[in-house]
Amino acid sequence: MSQELHPITKAIRIQTTKTGQSEHSTPLYLTSSFTFDEAETMRAAFADENDNNIYSRFSNPNVDEFVAKMCALEDVEDGFATSTGMSAVFSSFMALMKSGDHLLCCSSVFGSTYTIVNKYLPRYGITCTLIPANDKDAWEAAVQPNTKMLFLETPTNPQLEVIDLEHAGKFAKKHNLIFNVDNCFATPLLQKPVEYGADVIIHSATKWIDGQGRVLGGVIVGRKDLINEIYLFCRNTGPAMSPFNAWVLSKSLETLDVRLQRHCENALKIATALQSNPNVSWVKYPFLASHPQYDIAKKQMKLGGGVLCFEIKGGVEAGRKFLNSLELLSVTANLGDSRSIASHPASTTHSKLSDDERAAVGITPGLIRVSAGLEYADDVLRDIEQALEKSRG
Ligand SMILES: Cc1ncc(COP(=O)(O)O)c(C=O)c1O
Repeated sequence: MSQELHPITKAIRIQTTKTGQSEHSTPLYLTSSFTFDEAETMRAAFADENDNNIYSRFSNPNVDEFVAKMCALEDVEDGFATSTGMSAVFSSFMALMKSGDHLLCCSSVFGSTYTIVNKYLPRYGITCTLIPANDKDAWEAAVQPNTKMLFLETPTNPQLEVIDLEHAGKFAKKHNLIFNVDNCFATPLLQKPVEYGADVIIHSATKWIDGQGRVLGGVIVGRKDLINEIYLFCRNTGPAMSPFNAWVLSKSLETLDVRLQRHCENALKIATALQSNPNVSWVKYPFLASHPQYDIAKKQMKLGGGVLCFEIKGGVEAGRKFLNSLELLSVTANLGDSRSIASHPASTTHSKLSDDERAAVGITPGLIRVSAGLEYADDVLRDIEQALEKSRG
């Protein structure tokens, strides 16, 4: 077709070259390595003189199809898919920074990212300053002569803080920093960090991209020169995505747009209803007018996303009772599934932290995170309401 296709169409139509079987759906290339008819072709492949696949740690047709779709959706030049979201985060740090560099990282980031930047990066001589999500002065004060990268996620997990990408992009440019965004919660369909100058964009494909809680996966996309550095790091260190997972995730991208619309619709409906629930102190959702960064969310996101959170009255004990009283929602450590999920960080993921440590990372005693699934929203809401009632006193 003469006209450029929309990214949503590309996410459905990009496909590996058809084999002699004229298949409609992409076949699964479950192979560790690829063969060569001639030594010369193999030599040229290793010398980067042709694009032949060599070994699935480097590239694989299923993985390439998934990456090409993600690049189309994020509107960027290049990408590399990894085994998990965390290997994507870690590889982006290790490939793009070196001993002596300094990282600025928003204080409210996913727990494992927090551990990497505070525990592991310093072992390799990379220091990190945590900056409060929306304190512009603190960002300026934290810049050092050796600051190399700005890393953030928005909306954050699980506090749903929204960070101003326009400000972050200008800040990164002013200080000549690599601007690295974890876009897991929004997905490229709700928010495009590249429009604000992001150099590298990361996803845990395990979440909304899969959408049915089946496989783990991660992807890093962005500027070609930076992705090449990441590719070389990953090619040698080995956090490759499996072809099977890539096949599942590529298929999932075909339905991401329609799924997300229902997830967001359900999340907004549940969040709105819970605002007047007597057992709840507050509700947070990026597209509720009461959200502290509502204006920023409206500016940079198309819809509010599939996750909402609220504070149950009665603290940690009420949170536990709430989880025990749910009849429909799943109690599990994931999000972005077709089935609605509830979690209570204070008694689970963050239970080993002291009250003060939890407060420092924004985890209040009664914080409940809900990932809105694709069920009929009233059924999900009724289950949450009856569990709230049972968690009282
Ligand atoms: C924002 C964010 N980034 C990264 C990750 C890590 O992804 P994975 O579990 O695929 O390693 C998660 C997981 O929940 C997440 O929520």
